[in-house]
Parts: sequence; structure tokens; C-alpha cells
Amino acid sequence: MSVSSANALEQLAENFMRDPYELYARLREDSPATEVLLPRGMKVWLITRYEEARAALADPSLRKDFRAMQELFEKNFQGEDGRPPFEETVLAQHMLNSDQPDHTRLRKLVTKAFTSRRVELLRPRIEEITDELLDNMAGKQQVDLLDTFAFLLPITVICELLGVPVADRDAIRVWSNTLLDSSATPDTINEAAGAMAAYMVGLVEAKRAEPGDDMLSALVHASDDGDSLDQNEVVSMIFLLLVAGHETTVNLIGNGTLALLRSPDQLAALRADRSLLPGAIEEFLRFESPVNTATFRFTAEDTKVGDITIPAGELVLVALGGADRDPHKFIDPDTLDITRPATGHLAFGHGIHYCLGAPLARLEAEIAFDKLLTRFPDLRLAVDPHEIEWRTSSIMRGVRELPVALTPET
Ligand code: HEM
Repeated sequence: MSVSSANALEQLAENFMRDPYELYARLREDSPATEVLLPRGMKVWLITRYEEARAALADPSLRKDFRAMQELFEKNFQGEDGRPPFEETVLAQHMLNSDQPDHTRLRKLVTKAFTSRRVELLRPRIEEITDELLDNMAGKQQVDLLDTFAFLLPITVICELLGVPVADRDAIRVWSNTLLDSSATPDTINEAAGAMAAYMVGLVEAKRAEPGDDMLSALVHASDDGDSLDQNEVVSMIFLLLVAGHETTVNLIGNGTLALLRSPDQLAALRADRSLLPGAIEEFLRFESPVNTATFRFTAEDTKVGDITIPAGELVLVALGGADRDPHKFIDPDTLDITRPATGHLAFGHGIHYCLGAPLARLEAEIAFDKLLTRFPDLRLAVDPHEIEWRTSSIMRGVRELPVALTPET
């Protein structure tokens, strides 16, 4: 899975996403922070212990400003093709790439729309979309649950909320998957980023000409009306909300279903007592964190991580999936236990960049799992779990396909 190079840098193989946990366990044992080489050649410090991970996510000396980050990508890139992964600046000026005070200014513009109270108003529409998707699956013996359900639910919800045409969801999926694919070449990533940027700029122009009752129109209006944000920031905001709003929840539904179907006792317990569902969702988030590592940060000054000092000007990744399997925090962490108190997991991050969409993700997951289990009492995996392929992404953890059978076993 991994080999040590001559300069003792731990090199993460392209396929480490298939089972990152063995590697995380070893790194956690050795040190609170380890210098590693990511697939394609980016040198970065990886933090895998829970306490240190949580502290790092809230540490103001770990920064995200995208212009400074771009220089560090170039400095720390050791890949053979001589180019770090492309960052399209038209799409990069969003809150997750910003430090204070820009971060507060940008996040404030959309915070209200994502509070638990506001999100709860979306419940009837999310239920309706879920029912439609499950209706389309009914009568079939076998489906790819990722295609027919786990992807379509969150992408439809976020497109409607933002005012992005739902008809464009397949193109959005391809671009977004490519941008997050650590095995894609710089040319392919470049092409997807360019196409997505052109699409987003076109959308902004269309909303400016013909505003609707949606978040994108409101943001375009805010940027035309004053100096609260500029056009690039509108485009970047919509890009972030669109990608963060579906890529992650797809994997919560996909990874959660897979984990459940692989644990018959846990599945039976949840089928028997639906009051376990909110706790089960937290456990799915802990057990198979849909975001495997948080996004890149860099040290603005020498920074202590446990007993290690990371010098200023280094790239840092926090392994959320590693922290949430730390035995010092969670008892028997490699076992799925939907009755455990999984609160405190880091799957939504921590600190100022804590996930804006957590209430929406939890609501979508609650409706999705409840209705899926009720509608399909015979739901089971249609392939051997070992045949299931994981995506090659160093940030996202999710399966490529999830073939399930819906009808009774004969
Ligand atoms: C930030 C996870 C769903 C919007 C984050 C972060 C994580 C995360 C780990 C912090 C990343 C970092 O610090 O580097 C998840 C998971 C989800 C989910 C596991 C689903 C299960 C959503 C949804 C939205 C969303 C539905 C919808 C809008 C955002 C935004 C940020 C963010 C805007 C950046 C916040 C900031 O920089 O202040 N998410 N997310 N997420 N998430 Fe989510």
C-alpha cells in the first residue's frame, strides 16, 4: 500500500483510498504529524490523531488563503510532470479558501439560508424528491444505488436551492468528479475546471438578465448592489456550494448504506427501531467519513502539533477519517456501532470552516435512510463487498458504484 522513499517521506499510493485505515493507524502510532508524498507528488504534513486533528482545525496559525496556497503548491510539488494540480482562480475565491476577515464576510452572506430552522422548511420538498427517486427504482430487481438515488437526491436539492438548472446535473457531476480525482492528469483537471468556470460565469450572466427567487440571483443582486462581494466571489461561492453540497452527501448515503448492508445486526437493529436513525447517521459519518481529509491548509508560522513543530510555509492535511478512527477517542473504532455516542466526530470539520451545510446533510440523510429502508425491506448488496471499487480521490471517500438488489432473495 505504501513505501518509504530514500528521504523517509511516506509515499501514499494511488489506491490508498481503498483502505486508508491501516495506513492511518500506523501513522497515528508513530507520530502526531507525518510528512508524506501524495499521489502525483505533493509534499504535505498529514495529521491523523484525534486531539491534534481537532486542535489543528481550530488553530489560527493554519491558514487557507488561496493565493499563498498556490505558491506553496508550486514549491512543494515533486511530481514528474512538473505541474501542480491546477487551481482555477475564477472558482477559487470562496470562503473555504479564505482567512479572516474575508471568510466572515463571505460566510455571512449565506449563513442564514443554512440554519437548522431554515433547512427544516425544505423537508416537504426533500421528501417529495426522495419519493420520486424511490418510485423510479420500484419494480427493478437490481440498481446502482449511487446513480439512481445517492447522487440524484443531494444534487437535485442543492440545484433547486441555488437556482442552478437541474437538467445540467450530469455535466456538473462529471466536472466535479474530475476536479476531485487524484488520478486525473493536470490537462484533464484543467479542462474540467475551465468548462465549469465558463458554465458558472454563464449562469451568473443569465441570472443577472433574468433573476429568479433563488440564492444565485440574491448573490448576483448583492454583488451589483454594493461592495459586499465581487463577480468572481459570486461564481466561486456557487461553485463551492454546488460541489460541497452534493459530493459529500452522496458519499454519506453511499458509504452509510454500504456499511449498514455489511453489518446485518446493525441493519436489523435500525429496521426494528427507527429512533436509532439520528445516532446511526452520526456513526456513518464517523465510521466512513465522506470527506477523508479536510482541504489543504498551510502554516503561517512555526506550528506545534503535539510534540512536533511544523515549520512555517508548509502544507498540512488533517485526516478526518484517521482522527475518527482514533482508539484514544472512540472505543473499538473499526466497528460500526449505531448505538455508540459518535458525537464529537470530525466528519464536518471544526473551527471557523465547520461545515455550513451540516443541517442540510443531516436532514437529507435522515429522509433518505428512513424512506429507503421502509420502501425496500429486502435491500441487500448485489455483489461481494470486496468487488466494490472506491473512487481515487485524496479528499473524498466514496464508492464508484453501489449495486444493490431490491427484491426478495429466491
Ligand atoms: C465545509 C464535510 C455537506 C457546504 C466542510 C468541511 C467538511 C465538510 C469536513 C470543512 C473542510 C475543511 O475545513 O477543510 C461535509 C460532509 C457533508 C457536507 C461530510 C455531508 C455529509 C455539505 C452540504 C453543503 C456543504 C450539503 C451545502 C451547502 C459546505 C461549505 C463549507 C463546508 C460551504 C465551507 C465552510 C467554510 O469554509 O466556512 N464540509 N459537508 N457541505 N461545507 Fe460541508
